[in-house]
Amino acid sequence: MCGIVGYIGTRQAQDVLISGLSKLEYRGYDSAGVAIRDGGHISVEKKAGKLANLATVLEQRPLHGTLGIGHTRWATHGLPNDTNAHPHASEDGKIVIIHNGIIENYLPLKEALLKRGHKFSSETDSEVLVHLIEEKYQQAGGDLYEAVRLALGDVRGAYGIVVTHVDHREIVAARTVSPMVMGVGEGEMFLASDVPALLPYTREMVFLHDGDMVVLHDDGFKVTDLKGNEVRREIEHIDWDAEAAEKGGYDSYMMKEIYEQPNALTNTLIGRLHDDTGQVNLDINLDPASFKRISIIACGTAFYAGMVGEYLIEQLARIPVDIDVASEYRYRNPLVSENTLAIVMSQSGETIDTLEALREAKKYGAKTLGIINAKGSSMTREVDDTLYIHAGPEIGVASTKAYTSMVSAMLMLALWLGRARGTLDETAGRKLLHSARELPRLVEAALEPERVENIRAIAEKYADSRDFLFLGRGVNSPTAYEGALKLKEISYIHAEAYAAGEMKHGPIALIDEHMPVVVIATESKLLEKTISNVQEVRARKGRVILLLSDGDTENARYGDDVIYVPRADEMVSPVVNAVALQLLSIFIAQKLGKDVDKPRNLAKAVTVE
Ligand code: G6P
Repeated sequence: MCGIVGYIGTRQAQDVLISGLSKLEYRGYDSAGVAIRDGGHISVEKKAGKLANLATVLEQRPLHGTLGIGHTRWATHGLPNDTNAHPHASEDGKIVIIHNGIIENYLPLKEALLKRGHKFSSETDSEVLVHLIEEKYQQAGGDLYEAVRLALGDVRGAYGIVVTHVDHREIVAARTVSPMVMGVGEGEMFLASDVPALLPYTREMVFLHDGDMVVLHDDGFKVTDLKGNEVRREIEHIDWDAEAAEKGGYDSYMMKEIYEQPNALTNTLIGRLHDDTGQVNLDINLDPASFKRISIIACGTAFYAGMVGEYLIEQLARIPVDIDVASEYRYRNPLVSENTLAIVMSQSGETIDTLEALREAKKYGAKTLGIINAKGSSMTREVDDTLYIHAGPEIGVASTKAYTSMVSAMLMLALWLGRARGTLDETAGRKLLHSARELPRLVEAALEPERVENIRAIAEKYADSRDFLFLGRGVNSPTAYEGALKLKEISYIHAEAYAAGEMKHGPIALIDEHMPVVVIATESKLLEKTISNVQEVRARKGRVILLLSDGDTENARYGDDVIYVPRADEMVSPVVNAVALQLLSIFIAQKLGKDVDKPRNLAKAVTVE
């Protein structure tokens, strides 16, 4: 976890670091710190709490210097306090480091360092790195790059690390698992965990690969592997709009991203679905006849997008699909062979469990496909091919546009597989393709002001509930799961989801007049059965919030409250329905005064196990 920024150049480093870190707070925000080198001195300032605490201190007592490194932390080892915040300095204060990730063998390393007389000032795993580097610096005759390289040879784990030394005008960095991107300017160089931190300064970027080390000087950089061999990394031009990474007029990133969905979906679908020919062109190098089963692997919201995918692929392409949360897949000795297509789904492309599960699948010869948002992320470099969702940067911790874009990507994949394998006939294929192309327009309609105001009013009515139940069936049972997850994440209200037909096997015991039950009852083959489930809730005095398709006045009487959504083909409806549930959650959370962009205990990209 955590966010890193580094700068060397002519600007005041403090400004670049604080501005960059403010774009990375989504990666962790329990403490923050900077180290700034000013000639013969490195000053460190760190503060527990959100970045604003550090920024306030630095406003009052600015640190001057044009070389610096900064960090926003999400605690793994050690409490989120001032001492455990990064950067960490060697005992003599000459070397400072920032580390994102986990050093798995830090305990034996720490014991050995203590025996050799080192004094630790924090409880973090990261601090071992600075003491190790200090020792290696002596061995390497004062070569900082070499010291870092040797130290990394002793550690096991995941790291994005940046290091500087008072006697050297350079920054040394390295990454394994944890992401890192370098920005190339004129007479200045930047480092960050993610692109948005650098967009205000440069669009020329180098994505560092696993096992890369880099040395930054004012006027250039050198990339090597961990053995010290120079490697070539291309500079890429990033054309993301800086504005796209800002809140742009909305009160939260999450709200902005909810409203960006018509646009994000356009980007996901564009150029891939051809109404005229009925063809799906995903530009992926995958032979649809080369596998007999599919394993979908993901975490969190991406997992629920995968559940929709499981349903769609089995329906349209008639291929057996299994789906796992990545943390289970890794350790359950899964049945994988060369006949398996493993699909990893991830907004960030960095979630460690998903990345490791991908590696596990590859070990057994599976073909691999990523459904991923973040360009250049770790997973994209390890899969055989990537179907990018092109949703643009997602900053809100609770995923919204990445979810609907992932579901849409799955829909396209299922369509493509169905057509290629001959399980979906041309007429049905064309009809569905057309419905998919309609998605941006349908979502735009789902965001019309009257609908949004209706959802806001319902949210405010139920915001004081302690628990919620979400029910859905078929392709919309994952929508219920995702709806419940969204509510839990940002409002801290307990919420559970069930396939509606399963409700009578347990959750029905919870239903009384205090329990709001959100039921997805949009047009579907199973609508009648869903309405029967609604009756069961009503008979136990549950308060029903019904999601109905426009024009369904017949079933409206079964709901205490009704949210109408634009009428959509059942197969594409999970995308439209998810938007209504996102709004319900955000309005409940806002009514309760929660910070929806920074829900407690969560992080945007979980790069630790
Ligand atoms: C974290 C985030 C979730 C996200 C999940 C998977 O838990 O808080 O919003 O769905 O990680 O992230 P990924 O980047 O792999 O989609």
